[in-house]
Amino acid sequence: MYLAKTIIQKNVEGNSHKEQLAIDVLTGLCAMPKNLPAKYFYDDTGSEVFQQITKHEDYYLTSTEFQILNRIKDQLPEEIGAQEIDIIELGAGDGHKSQLIIDGFLNANCKVNFYPIDISEKAMLMLSENMTPHPNLTINGVVAEYFDGLRTVRNQSKNRQLVLFLGSNIGNFDRVQNQGFLRRLWMSLNASDNVLLGFDLKKDVGVLTAAYNDSSGHTREFNLNILRRINAELGGNFNIDKFKHFGVYNPVLGAMESYVLSTEEQEVYVAELQRTFHFESYEPIHLEYSFKFTQGDIEFLCQQTGFEMIEQYSDEKNYFVDSLWKVVKEK
Ligand code: AVJ
Repeated sequence: MYLAKTIIQKNVEGNSHKEQLAIDVLTGLCAMPKNLPAKYFYDDTGSEVFQQITKHEDYYLTSTEFQILNRIKDQLPEEIGAQEIDIIELGAGDGHKSQLIIDGFLNANCKVNFYPIDISEKAMLMLSENMTPHPNLTINGVVAEYFDGLRTVRNQSKNRQLVLFLGSNIGNFDRVQNQGFLRRLWMSLNASDNVLLGFDLKKDVGVLTAAYNDSSGHTREFNLNILRRINAELGGNFNIDKFKHFGVYNPVLGAMESYVLSTEEQEVYVAELQRTFHFESYEPIHLEYSFKFTQGDIEFLCQQTGFEMIEQYSDEKNYFVDSLWKVVKEK
């Protein structure tokens, strides 16, 4: 494994991952309507299935962003202008896109310290297998949630920082969470640090719907896997055949919404929680929002949260934007 070192962190409260999963599943399945946090998609299987999604042509997001990054990778070092840079990636995934950006900086003779932060150990492993070694590149992986990982990195380094938050990961937050997230990011950075954020744009609903209902059924597997995870890690007895994936666009929210629906009235027991959960026929569990943006939404968010917009990089079809911002602070 090429990663110089990988730190695996506990969350802030010091709970183990399993305890936190138990608490969140209990809370989510007791709620009305039922829900489960999207971060729990990414166990080993989930991270692999997600990688399948990103390679599928119906899921245009990854390939579109890859094109954009490939086009701009040599411009970024000029825009940012540093001799040595920390590239911190939140939710780094398999590292294919990270490598592009890193290559841009290495080609410009810049020294790069890459800090991928990801909640999934499996993703970190896939990443480490995908990165190409280089004498001017160091890699330190952090398996943690976003801000826990960010704090760890910032305690280690005083370099100029570029934070990558790609793939429209930001779309998992609703509008309020979004501003909170970006403001928190702003707080944890210094003046003149940069962020590069990937936003999926509003577009034809057919295109959106196809992306979240891919023809090979990877998205279905991805969503149902969260129930399998509860079975495996918390002793649940979800019968996966009695739940159906449902992905739909909500034009009022401007978001794709992912659900699993209980196809009949049923009871599900989760041993670790010592609880039975009742499902009505066609009752949903909400799993994920994938918010879509306009250029205007992005400019508004940037300005609201203390950043200066440097550039919006888009593709020919105007499907996706990578937006480069700079932290603005008074002295
Ligand atoms: C990784 C959160 C950006 O919302 O598009 C893909 C996850 N869900 N297919 C997204 C996802 C269903 C993805 N993000």
